[in-house]
Amino acid sequence: MDVLLIGSGGREHAIAWKLRQSKQLDDLYIAPGNAGTALCGQNVDIKDSDIPALVGFAREKRVGLVIVGPEEPLSKGIVDVMEASGIKAFGPSGAAAQLEADKAFAKQLMRAGAISTAEGRVFDRFSDAKAYIASRDEPVVIKAAGLAKGKGVIVCDDPAQGILAAEKIMVDRIFGDAGEKVVVEDKLLGEETSILAFVDGRSIYVMESSQDHKPIGDGDTGPNTGGMGAYSPAPIVTESMMDRITREILVPAVDAMNRNGTPYRGVLYAGLMMTSGGPRVLEFNARFGDPETQPILMRLQSDLLEVCLAVCDGTLEDVTLRWDPRPSVCVVMASGGYPGEYQKGKVITGLQEASQLDDVMVFHAGTKRRDGSVVTSGGRVLGVTAIGGTIAAAKARAYEAVDRIQFEGAYCRRDIADKAIRRKS
Ligand code: AMP
Ligand code: GLY
Repeated sequence: MDVLLIGSGGREHAIAWKLRQSKQLDDLYIAPGNAGTALCGQNVDIKDSDIPALVGFAREKRVGLVIVGPEEPLSKGIVDVMEASGIKAFGPSGAAAQLEADKAFAKQLMRAGAISTAEGRVFDRFSDAKAYIASRDEPVVIKAAGLAKGKGVIVCDDPAQGILAAEKIMVDRIFGDAGEKVVVEDKLLGEETSILAFVDGRSIYVMESSQDHKPIGDGDTGPNTGGMGAYSPAPIVTESMMDRITREILVPAVDAMNRNGTPYRGVLYAGLMMTSGGPRVLEFNARFGDPETQPILMRLQSDLLEVCLAVCDGTLEDVTLRWDPRPSVCVVMASGGYPGEYQKGKVITGLQEASQLDDVMVFHAGTKRRDGSVVTSGGRVLGVTAIGGTIAAAKARAYEAVDRIQFEGAYCRRDIADKAIRRKS
């Protein structure tokens, strides 16, 4: 079967790498892809937002399946358009993807499903938001309701900061139209975890747990990014906690989506805060996480293509996921300056030397080929991922690989997985 994969991040390189291992796969096309995906299939020069061109390409090549990586085309209904053209597509419909693309919708759905989340209110007028925030004395979190590449959330220590944040989002529109509405939420305390599940509309198959590292700096300091590294499994999520998360969050979410007339198919990603009172939802995403997908898929032993097809066909019940019990760690190497301004076009060296290490995969994100070399072309450049006998061994191996790779201005956090290592020891 031929497959078209949409996207160009580290997540898509990991998906492409895993699909390549499937006996069912013939040709793999990646639009637009990066220098890493080009090693797994054929990159196609179509932007992930150009839905008509993507549908045209999928029809022309008669692909058996389209897999959509990023949230933007999902929220614009790419799956609906593909299906209307008779093409099987993996991911939620445009209506169901609002679970990620509209945080106000997500809040409403959680209320309908009695799913534990932070107390929150939605505002579409700055004056109302301001009055509400001023009336609170607890720390608040201000979120642009729309899509903002994982950066649309400002965690505030007091109401004054909160009002300023709401003004930046709603009035100055620092996140563009995503800031038309805001969600003002109580700040939750605890450790975060990402729980991803395959959902076929009825059945739910939870993947192994993982933990992202959102802030740019060591010790979780500085502004939020798309994610600076991740590991799997997250020891904070014990087996009984995973059962609880499934029972109290995932099942009610899928049920509430059905009742809402927006059945959910694809990957459902719950970003959770593990508070002293139990797991509470920070956000839902309508897709694989990035970088969580890199360590998760490194551990997946089953055929990803088969699982994606089962999700589309509503036969997830018949599938079994097998996992490598060993933990894995992904360290993101970013361009200097990210998540702010950064330069592109820096030559990357040492990729071969890093990949030669046992149990290491260097997943590309913002990279491209230029005159025979690989150069940087985005904020997050590489997801250097390793698997090991222990989480500490996986971390050590990942950083060994990181230290073999150079490009001007390269930056990475040095403490990825430390929370898990502390918990284990
Ligand atoms: P989100 O995109 O909603 O997951 O938010 C991005 C990040 O902001 C999360 O990963 C958390 O680190 C932080 N965050 C979001 N909501 C809250 C909250 N209610 N309390 C504390 N931190 C939060
Ligand atoms: N790693 C966070 C996300 O994919 O949204």
